[in-house]
Amino acid sequence: MAQQTVAVVGAGACGLSMLKTLREDGFKVTCFERRRQVGGLWAYTKEPSMTTALPSTRALISKYTCGMSDFPMPDHYPPHLTQAQFQEFMESYAKHFDLLKDIVFGASLKNVRRNDDDTRWLVEVLIDGETKTEEFDKVALCHGYQTYSQKPRFEDEEKFEGILMHAQQFRPEDVEKYKGKNVVMVGMSSTASDVINNILPHASKVYLSHRRGMYIFPTWRDNTPADLLLSWRRRQTGFLLQRYFPGLARWLGDKALDYLMRKTWKNLDPAWRILPSPSVSISLPGASDTIIPLLQSGKLTSIHGIKRFLGPSTIEFTDGSILEDIHAVICATGYTADLTVAPFLPVSKPPNYSGPDLLRLWHNIFPPKYADSMALLCHSAYGKNNGFSFNDVQSMAVSNIFRHVHPLPSLPTMESDIDKHHAWLVSCWARDKTPNSFDPSMSTANS
Ligand SMILES: Cc1cc2nc3c(=O)[nH]c(=O)nc-3n(C[C@H](O)[C@H](O)[C@H](O)COP(=O)(O)OP(=O)(O)OC[C@H]3O[C@@H](n4cnc5c(N)ncnc54)[C@H](O)[C@@H]3O)c2cc1C
Ligand SMILES: NC(=O)c1ccc[n+]([C@@H]2O[C@H](COP(=O)([O-])OP(=O)(O)OC[C@H]3O[C@@H](n4cnc5c(N)ncnc54)[C@H](OP(=O)(O)O)[C@@H]3O)[C@@H](O)[C@H]2O)c1
Repeated sequence: MAQQTVAVVGAGACGLSMLKTLREDGFKVTCFERRRQVGGLWAYTKEPSMTTALPSTRALISKYTCGMSDFPMPDHYPPHLTQAQFQEFMESYAKHFDLLKDIVFGASLKNVRRNDDDTRWLVEVLIDGETKTEEFDKVALCHGYQTYSQKPRFEDEEKFEGILMHAQQFRPEDVEKYKGKNVVMVGMSSTASDVINNILPHASKVYLSHRRGMYIFPTWRDNTPADLLLSWRRRQTGFLLQRYFPGLARWLGDKALDYLMRKTWKNLDPAWRILPSPSVSISLPGASDTIIPLLQSGKLTSIHGIKRFLGPSTIEFTDGSILEDIHAVICATGYTADLTVAPFLPVSKPPNYSGPDLLRLWHNIFPPKYADSMALLCHSAYGKNNGFSFNDVQSMAVSNIFRHVHPLPSLPTMESDIDKHHAWLVSCWARDKTPNSFDPSMSTANS
């Protein structure tokens, strides 16, 4: 039988692991990457339309859970890697497994579609200004979870004459712009923390604008990287509770995190509105070593969400307070994956649900009709923040399905699994209808 061909899109941690695993398992693999280097968003770029870790960014997950399964992290790296170390790690991984020869750099995927007789995939890429279409038996889309910035549109924002942008566009080379300025940072998660750390030494005043609380934890606890405290046994117990007693699991999870937050940070001024946080069942906890200490020291000031812009430098907040003399508003309000390249992906809107369309993917990865030839690795919440060892597990699972080593259930069974998962998602959505906050990529132990 002729060797089966696979197109892998993206040469970040996910794509590199996929390329290596599929090649080792006998496929002929071509990887298309729009950047000029490997490493994905960990390869720092000044290009403002691309999401990038900043040179000051440190991993939230420790190297003990982050490395590839067959390429350990070097001993000389600190527990939490810097952006440059992640980039170096992935470059050495690619060299060690001789992956570069199968990667086409500067190649941007435009779209994937079926050929006329519905037997293979047509992959259309733009390479150095030229569009090229190639046929493949299978496709693995590993082009990132955080491709498009998600900037809210505020009432009367066109009245504002200062800088109004998404954090995706922020680069440390530009910090001089914020010298002596008053800056409002919107959002309270990891990107906000990264940008604040960069501008705080230069700005005159930095405000943290958030519309509700959040569980925020430091990367270390009891002199141990925090991710190491979440043992396999604890995860399994959590999954069992989620599966059989979801209401109890929610209640216990929130109580435990609330207790841990107060124990960790001790002095949490209620005026900051960090607690109560939305339930952990609808909003994942964030990680930052600096946001709470900066609030405690008074270097950062907590304010409400933005209601509307009143003038060239004046903003009204949802509690009715008004700030004048604001020079910049930076929205660290999250990202979405680019699904435009795969317009064939099936979506649905369950009854009594008016949130964003829900992708019909088996296990949040496989479109049922093409499950043995198409995998989308930019949607599942599990893949988003679980370290690179998780990428290896995903790649092996995809390879097993593509090689028919792991038999797929029938189409009706996959569709019914998806319906059950959607019913669970709809129940999460119904509990929290805050704009832009519902994450349709959430998963449970059941999905
Ligand atoms: C600033 C930041 C810090 C993070 N920190 C952590 C952390 O500490 N721990 C953790 O586990 N996760 C973290 N994450 C989550 C992040 O998703 C993973 O770290 C990891 O980068 C995901 O790897 P990936 O290969 O799926 O995606 P990416 O790293 O985003 O790589 C995707 C690749 O696909 C390419 N691409 C995109 N579109 C196209 C196209 N159309 N054609 C061709 N190529 C394309 C991109 O250029 C990129 O190289 C962080 C995310 C951000 C934004
Ligand atoms: N290693 C690192 O240091 C690092 C650095 C950056 C990013 N990351 C990772 O990258 C991913 C993205 O992180 P992120 O911080 O960019 O995004 P994020 O985790 O999705 O957080 C977005 C923030 O914006 C707020 N928000 C969203 N929409 C809003 C709106 N319309 N108005 C006001 N506030 C709004 C959210 O609060 P609500 O609760 O109100 O929705 C939340 O505080 C995460 O997985 C993160 O772990 C890691």
